Amino acid sequence: MFSPTLYTAVRRPLLEAETMPPWCYTSPDFYEREVERIFHREWNFIGRADRIPNPGDYFTLEFAGVPLVVVRGRDGAVRAFSNVCRHRGARIMSGEGNAKSLRCPYHSWNYALDGRLERAPEMHDTRGFDPGDYGLKPVRLETWSGFMFINFDPDAVDLKAFLGDLPEVTAPYRFDTMTCVRRREYDLACNWKIYVENAMEAYHVPSVHMQTISRQKRVNNPPIPSAGGYCGIFTAHEGSRAILPGEPGFPYIPTLSGRCAEGTYYILIYPSTMFGCTLDCMWWLELHPRGPEETRLTVGSCFPDETIARDDFDALIGNYYRRWETSIMEDNVISEQQQEGMRSPLASPGRLSYLEPLVHTLGNWVLDRVLDQPQTSRLADSGHGGSTG
Ligand code: FES
Ligand SMILES: [Fe+2]
Repeated sequence: MFSPTLYTAVRRPLLEAETMPPWCYTSPDFYEREVERIFHREWNFIGRADRIPNPGDYFTLEFAGVPLVVVRGRDGAVRAFSNVCRHRGARIMSGEGNAKSLRCPYHSWNYALDGRLERAPEMHDTRGFDPGDYGLKPVRLETWSGFMFINFDPDAVDLKAFLGDLPEVTAPYRFDTMTCVRRREYDLACNWKIYVENAMEAYHVPSVHMQTISRQKRVNNPPIPSAGGYCGIFTAHEGSRAILPGEPGFPYIPTLSGRCAEGTYYILIYPSTMFGCTLDCMWWLELHPRGPEETRLTVGSCFPDETIARDDFDALIGNYYRRWETSIMEDNVISEQQQEGMRSPLASPGRLSYLEPLVHTLGNWVLDRVLDQPQTSRLADSGHGGSTG
């Protein structure tokens, strides 16, 4: 399954290539390899730090099989830890909330917000036991403009090097002056790549979104150049992409200039996060793999703080939520339907349209990492989609 000879057709240039074989979307072995070589090595997006604004605010998640707790310390720093007790391994925190310390429910070992083991009752007779050796295991967490990313690989480059020129390309949006006003989670019965591919091509829009966002006019451009861990497309158009044509919305982000002022960037931050950056806001689609055929989607919506402060914010925000809710449900349905097809013993690779360059790019990016071959340098090729042609 990991022999490069099985994928020569996927490796061809876009208009000569085949799609990934169906087993890439269904096989537990293929999925495990992705977890090991991709999700446990790359920088993974986990949302916005404004989700936990105050010291003691925390949330838990399970990322690619690893239970984590993300917590803001008394010093204001946001940290990620393994959510597993160093005593006998119970999961410590659940859900989200605010806590003075992180207390294990089993025998009440108590960890400070910075992960130090502060109190371990009845351990005074235990020989050679030093609480300093039993703090929560930290996981690398770095932020960019309020967006949090984690990485399990101690040897990975830092987040800044991973992102490359993405902060520069998106600087006009001033993400650092935005706040996330809504998060929605969906559990989907499909492989993570199915959903990412859907998010990165507009070929399906006239069919899947016939009654909704297909009314938005678009001009399809080739993928944007990239010098970082991302790829993307830019669509030139009038009006915000986050509402349906004709609906009233908010003023545009005042700092937009150049291309940003003329349309929308759809950016895939590898491996599995889509940023939609449009004229008046940004939204993200965050895909966390949970199994070969299971994915958790989180949709976040961010607006400039000056927009949120407007008197008409509550009156108009519903237009945005309705647009996202509708199109996302349409994408959820078709993605699960595609997964059902992929499971068939009669499923086989297909071909790609000129409208699907990033489907091809993502597939090749995955193959670069999971196949049995010397690993290529992750940054050298990550932005350009390697063999996209
Ligand atoms: S397992 Fe956590 S205190 Fe015992
Ligand atoms: Fe869609």
